[in-house]
Amino acid sequence: MALVDPHSFTDSTHPFATHISLTLYFDFASLTIHGSAVLNLSTQHTGSLHLDTRSLTIHSVSDPSSDDAPLPFSLSSPDPIRGTQLTVTLSNHSALRIVYSTSPSSSALQWLSPPQTFNKTYPLVYTQCHAIHARSVFPCQDTPAARVCYNARLNFPRQLSAVMAARHVERRAPIAGEAAELVCGDSMWCAEGRVVEEFTMEQPVPSYLFAFAVGEIGFREVGPRTRVYAESVPAVLDSAAREFAATEDMMRQGERLFGPYEWERFDLLVLPPSFPYGGMENPRMVFLTPTVIKGDASGAQLVAHELAHSWTGNLITNKTNEHFWLNEGFTTYAERRIVEVVQGEDRAVLNIGIGWRSLKETMEKFKDRLEFTKLKNNQEGVDPDDVYSKIPYEKGFQFLWRIERQVGRPVFDEFLKKYIATFKFKSIDTDTFLDFLKTNIPGIEKDIDLTLWTEGVGIPPDAYEPVSILYTKIVSLANEFSLGRMPREDEVSDWHGQEWELYLENLPKSVEASQLLALDERYRLSESKDYEVKVGFLQLAISSKCKDYYPEVEKTLKEVGRMKYLRPLYTALVQGTGKEEEKVFAKRVFAEARESYHPIAQNVVEAILSKHV
Ligand code: BES
Ligand code: ZN
Repeated sequence: MALVDPHSFTDSTHPFATHISLTLYFDFASLTIHGSAVLNLSTQHTGSLHLDTRSLTIHSVSDPSSDDAPLPFSLSSPDPIRGTQLTVTLSNHSALRIVYSTSPSSSALQWLSPPQTFNKTYPLVYTQCHAIHARSVFPCQDTPAARVCYNARLNFPRQLSAVMAARHVERRAPIAGEAAELVCGDSMWCAEGRVVEEFTMEQPVPSYLFAFAVGEIGFREVGPRTRVYAESVPAVLDSAAREFAATEDMMRQGERLFGPYEWERFDLLVLPPSFPYGGMENPRMVFLTPTVIKGDASGAQLVAHELAHSWTGNLITNKTNEHFWLNEGFTTYAERRIVEVVQGEDRAVLNIGIGWRSLKETMEKFKDRLEFTKLKNNQEGVDPDDVYSKIPYEKGFQFLWRIERQVGRPVFDEFLKKYIATFKFKSIDTDTFLDFLKTNIPGIEKDIDLTLWTEGVGIPPDAYEPVSILYTKIVSLANEFSLGRMPREDEVSDWHGQEWELYLENLPKSVEASQLLALDERYRLSESKDYEVKVGFLQLAISSKCKDYYPEVEKTLKEVGRMKYLRPLYTALVQGTGKEEEKVFAKRVFAEARESYHPIAQNVVEAILSKHV
């Protein structure tokens, strides 16, 4: 037995599944999916086959090619990180069917009740499978080392519609007999008021890129290859369509820089505010937070990032989460190359400056967990959601930028295109990248300490903080605040969220309440529609113990579920000494807000509270 990935039970001596066929019945009343998954293996196999599951009830395992003759199976006791291992015993089988149900606490799924949606009329459910949550939706080899094609039939109430990170095939009435094996049975499958939508993903993808949403979803066309989908509310759809109008432009830039766009369509799905991330690069259908729709540059930047994953991450995938920088470092580099073309060099350099700052701050936060300051790190016994940070993004970016500086942009651009063309639809590790680098740029290891960059802790000495005029100006204004000078209106008139975010981050961690109130009086930061600004300000208010703002903190924690905002606010409340009142407050707010968060966010907040409270 040999594991391929510390986060999966997948055994390297077993064949990988190459195709999965899913039949899914959505029961909104019990927050459950009744499913069947047929896995086709790359070769016939005899002996045990290990699959990942989490909080799934397995009803039966059978051989679909011989009248569903039962196959022996067993379940391990659950592991807190990896979930439950499903072991099936095969004899010369190349396919198996698993009939199962999900549980309401499935870690990938957020079920929103009608009052939790915009329209307040229908429920909505969506997935977030990255990093290791696909196993809570269907049994699979839930490691990015394995790639699989799939098709899926989704059955749900006909007032709703479905989207998937896959090609839409058809919407039709349920057919008797097509789901006989499901525990819900044919009668529920074909009941009055149910509809089926079918999808297919013909390109092999890692399981973490599996995604769907089912709800009252509408769309607007925004480009030849792009629609934006969201809850079917005209105001939401219209503002989303405006925000993402320039997507096709960015796609063309991406193709010029990195080679052909291989996924045919690039649609966007704007989710409710509880979506736990800014964006998720699900192929053909990126998932996005609505908090990014505010008519400034940040929406485009987020889309540039998720679009860049179409090459780095989705075409070339990190083999395990221990090489996550191959996904995020490359994507951050690619995102900034796109931003440089569509928003100008100034903006790109500002983003690099912001990234540099957050890299240094994150290094500080990880000073007791130095392992995770390495690009390539050991995640044995570690939950990837617990060590998620900006390090793979920003240190990875710095590493690639360092190589670019060494060889010059034209050479690096050629190298990148060749790297993508060589490894597309493959899952690779750091050493594979380094071998390819050394082969294609001979002698690079004499100029750059590749081992220090990939295996060393902290920030290597040849990393580089860019000089941005905008950045320098903001930092000096922030320094002046400590001396009692507030920025003048004409100095901030063209500031958007990013500029304010940077300004606030550069203020001392604790300031006088009177100063804070005066700043807010003038610029209304605590009421900003832009969460980057609002949360930056509220964080400062908490660390300055300015209680006037706690009601606003509570309101914010109850209306958004994006972890980028939850993490700093809850942390500011509970970290440090003399925080008894804040801890009680944080616990109460979390108890009241918990239900509205995605399960991944619930776990992350719980971890923050349990560490400090
Ligand atoms: N794939 C990530 C989000 C992610 C990472 C989900 C790890 C689960 C586990 C996505 O591409 C991402 O990086 N999103 C960022 C966008 C930002 C860097 C522009 C986010 O959500 O903040
Ligand atoms: Zn990313």
